[in-house]
Amino acid sequence: MASDFRKPDTRWLGQDLTVMESVGSTNQVLRERLKQGHLAPGSTVIAREQTAGRGRLGRVWQSPAGQGLYTSVLVYPPPARYGGILSLLAGVALSDAVRRVCGVPCGLKWPNDGVIGGKKYAGILVEAGSHPEIWAVIGMGVNVRGTVPEEMAAATTLARAAGQEVDPAVLWLELAKALETRYEQWVSTGDHPVAEAWRAVTTTVGQMVVVSGPGGGFTGKAVDIDDSGALLVEGPAGVVPVSSGEVSVRLTNGDYTA
Ligand code: BTN
Repeated sequence: MASDFRKPDTRWLGQDLTVMESVGSTNQVLRERLKQGHLAPGSTVIAREQTAGRGRLGRVWQSPAGQGLYTSVLVYPPPARYGGILSLLAGVALSDAVRRVCGVPCGLKWPNDGVIGGKKYAGILVEAGSHPEIWAVIGMGVNVRGTVPEEMAAATTLARAAGQEVDPAVLWLELAKALETRYEQWVSTGDHPVAEAWRAVTTTVGQMVVVSGPGGGFTGKAVDIDDSGALLVEGPAGVVPVSSGEVSVRLTNGDYTA
């Protein structure tokens, strides 16, 4: 079944929509276009396949043709407001959309990995800059259907996890609406409601986690997030804020649900 990606029923997000057959990375396409000049807020690129999909912390995001939703959306966050919370906001919007399309409970592993039944079905990579104005590209990759490589035991597809067929194009329409709504709420009401919505769906808080990063690692209990989206981990040095750009966090028992 070929997906037919259409303009969503939104005011601005996704209204400038480019659908590509195959591209290296949709995040990269938007970033290159931005270098050429101002783009409309909400400008979106969707690819049916990515050949160089990028993940967090320099990882590769496998993006086989026709099996997923690979999309990047440009926003211009208000000055002095951009921070890690935007990436959590995108995860909350993804969870809204998945619940609407599939009707299944879905969670978020900090900061914003979509998880169902302890397995990852989606990831989000937000890239941002401040020239010539503050911009952020919200890149979202959802394994919607098809197979995942056997070696990726912690990964699944949305269709498999939900036990039903899912069309990436239908998911896109709901995701665009949810993202626009959550983004507008954030602009008008601030970080706190986003943090509250994220707390309602997280699978990480309350778990023992291993934090690893360039400066070393430690084990501790994930106790909360702050309003900037940093994970608060209670370790040997007390409660430490951990920022998503620097570290990976995994559950001490090796499960993925954290
Ligand atoms: C992660 O979990 O590591 C984040 C994965 C983000 C993948 C998406 S797919 C669309 C967009 N383009 C990219 O190159 N990456 C993001």
